[in-house]
Amino acid sequence: MSYLKLENVRKVYNKKVEAVKEFSLEIHKGEFVAFLGPSGCGKTTTLRMIAGLESVTGGDITLEGKSIIELEPKDRGISMIFQSYAVWPHMTVFDNVAYALKLQKKSKEEINQIVNEVAKTADITQYLNRYPSQLSGGQRQRVAVARAIAVKPKLFLMDEPLSNLDAKLRVAMRTDLKRIHQEVKATSIFVTHDQSEALSLADRIVVMNQGVIEQIGSPKEIYHNSETMFIAKFIGSPPSNFLYVKVVQKNEKIHLVHDGFDYEFIGPETKTLKEKYMGQTIVLSVRPENITVNKDGLMKVIAKIIEPQGSHVIINTDIHGEEIKIVSDILELESGEEIMLGFNGKVALFDAETEKRIR
Ligand SMILES: Nc1ncnc2c1ncn2[C@@H]1O[C@H](COP(=O)(O)OP(=O)(O)OP(=O)(O)O)[C@@H](O)[C@H]1O
Ligand SMILES: [Mg+2]
Repeated sequence: MSYLKLENVRKVYNKKVEAVKEFSLEIHKGEFVAFLGPSGCGKTTTLRMIAGLESVTGGDITLEGKSIIELEPKDRGISMIFQSYAVWPHMTVFDNVAYALKLQKKSKEEINQIVNEVAKTADITQYLNRYPSQLSGGQRQRVAVARAIAVKPKLFLMDEPLSNLDAKLRVAMRTDLKRIHQEVKATSIFVTHDQSEALSLADRIVVMNQGVIEQIGSPKEIYHNSETMFIAKFIGSPPSNFLYVKVVQKNEKIHLVHDGFDYEFIGPETKTLKEKYMGQTIVLSVRPENITVNKDGLMKVIAKIIEPQGSHVIINTDIHGEEIKIVSDILELESGEEIMLGFNGKVALFDAETEKRIR
């Protein structure tokens, strides 16, 4: 049974800004879900409606089978942390973490025990007597996490909690958050516009675009089976390459023909291509690591710019004017070199008009 359920949830601000259009989602107990999407797509609005900080214009939100949309935020059993460090500067770390427990009228012994336990989980035990100003950004954010999980919330909501940290700390905190989640198993929603954060943290990712859900799936599904061109372009660094090709039949075989190459296509989509797309232009989408560089390739190009990344290189080139990026482990490549490119078979096809995946 689903634990948190959003059914056709909508939000219209000031009777005109439709921030969230039709949002339906079920989350299981203990799951870690990421809301991912570009700025302004409605991530924060959705989170705030779940927390009760914003009313819903339409639809329903249930937690453990009961509607919560009429409940005050404090009665929903939800902890939330924000982008800015939500810790109180005038209280020690201990008091920050203990605050909500005191409100719950827990005994001194019980509070001590819980604070010590979550401090251990969040790795802040040695800072319990300090004030937030005496901590680094990452340590402060771990205090916010400790305080949020101390009350054993039914739901733990995080709105871009790592975005104030520098790049290195972000990656370290990401691992910490994942470890904490594996220990505490709090049902969590994590909002981010950073695709690598969503991919590395979440059990499932909800990709949002302009107030609607584009796709819900595991990080693997979202990356390898992107439903739309928007997702193929939004996920992955560098993102997927798009090549406009014509569908042609040659002796029973389907060929995808481009000015720069002729690719014999084999795959389950062949039937749909024959029925619906003969002679039409579609989009061949190829992840940068699925373009091969070797002697028996399909096409010859010049490797215009090589960007070394240590373990691999990013090759920037174009196929008859269409810019592409290739990730390769051939480290000795030099800019200006002539190379042969091919596809390793892992490609996706999109309808050029609807921009949806062809199955
Ligand atoms: N209080 C408000 N009144 C009117 N419009 C609002 C209000 N809050 C948000 N919006 C609008 O609703 C849309 C969604 O905003 P929201 O803050 O949910 O986006 P977001 O996905 O969290 O973006 P970001 O990644 O920039 O934080 C935006 O177009 C925004 O301008
Ligand atoms: Mg936001």
